[in-house]
Amino acid sequence: MSVAAERAARIEVCLDGDRLATLEPHPAIDMFRPSAKQHQALVGIARDPLTCVSVAVDDGVMVAYAAFHPPSDVESWGEDRTGRIIELGAVEVAPPYRGQRLAERLLAASFEDGRYEDTVVFATMYVWHYDLKRTGLNDFAYKRLLERLYRSAGFVPFPTADAEIRSSAANQLMARIGAHADPAVVEEFHRLRTRPRFYG
Ligand SMILES: CC(C)(COP(=O)(O)OP(=O)(O)OC[C@H]1O[C@@H](n2cnc3c(N)ncnc32)[C@H](O)[C@@H]1OP(=O)(O)O)[C@@H](O)C(=O)NCCC(=O)NCCS
Repeated sequence: MSVAAERAARIEVCLDGDRLATLEPHPAIDMFRPSAKQHQALVGIARDPLTCVSVAVDDGVMVAYAAFHPPSDVESWGEDRTGRIIELGAVEVAPPYRGQRLAERLLAASFEDGRYEDTVVFATMYVWHYDLKRTGLNDFAYKRLLERLYRSAGFVPFPTADAEIRSSAANQLMARIGAHADPAVVEEFHRLRTRPRFYG
């Protein structure tokens, strides 16, 4: 484990965009975009009242994050008629900080205080987002890793008709139905996940 990783990172839950903007992104927060661009995108997400961006911070450096937001309009999940379904868009831990259950702690902290208990939060797991290179895991071992991580926060797998998810057996839909979720929101989630959808 590196010297950086031995230091304890502090979790900040649902911080506001201005605070997030003061943090420096760890250069290895680069799984989905270069770190500066990802940081900029997260600041934008954090400025929206329906969202939550939780981060792990070490000495002013953002070393991990979990981002929750309404599904974007360009996704089929964005056709949510209740406007209340939330997507866990991404979780990422900078490689020197991995292996300390930081992602699990970020998710647990994000659901504290009953946040999102009245709705459904879903996560789409796509093999093309898996960090197989740096973890040395294969598709299915990585899927198990993510499933365990999301289950720790109360997510369970759901079958879906979504063509993108069904395009690989290593993909998966998981969702967390809040303890007090509005039945209309739950029904809408089931409608979205089961309606036939195809590419094109
Ligand atoms: C998935 C991810 C967020 C988990 O982060 P984490 O908090 O470090 O996870 P954990 O501490 O629970 O470790 C999980 C597994 O990672 C692997 N791992 C442990 N230390 C590691 C290290 N130093 N480097 C790489 N992988 C490591 C192990 O397989 C470990 O499983 P084990 O505990 O059974 O040995 C992280 O791997 C990551 O950022 N991946 C890239 C982005 C991604 O896939 N996000 C999810 C989809 S949006």
